[in-house]
Amino acid sequence: MPKVIFVEADGTRHEVEGKNGVSLMEIAISNNIDGIEAECGGSCMCATCHCFIEEDFSAAVPAMESDEDEMLGFTAVDRKSSSRLSCQIKMSDDLAGIEVNLPSEQN
Ligand code: FES
Repeated sequence: MPKVIFVEADGTRHEVEGKNGVSLMEIAISNNIDGIEAECGGSCMCATCHCFIEEDFSAAVPAMESDEDEMLGFTAVDRKSSSRLSCQIKMSDDLAGIEVNLPSEQN
């Protein structure tokens, strides 16, 4: 299975297995990664699954839809150009080895 590397705001790294078709948010939750809250359960309505995608993978992740773009205006930590909602990115072979940086807070 493709690997996902979650990096907490303090630099702590977690390398976990990702299953294709499963969102980065779900992969984080199922591996008890601190830093992803996902209060809405993946409905693109809370912005507590905010993450920063490593630049090397910015072209490989699926394009952002308008509802995700709108929700990124409500993140606890300021949005950056690499910001995404992890519930909106499904794992695929193209994302094998992706590094997902987590913000210092989600609420
Ligand atoms: S889990 Fe709520 S927006 Fe992603």
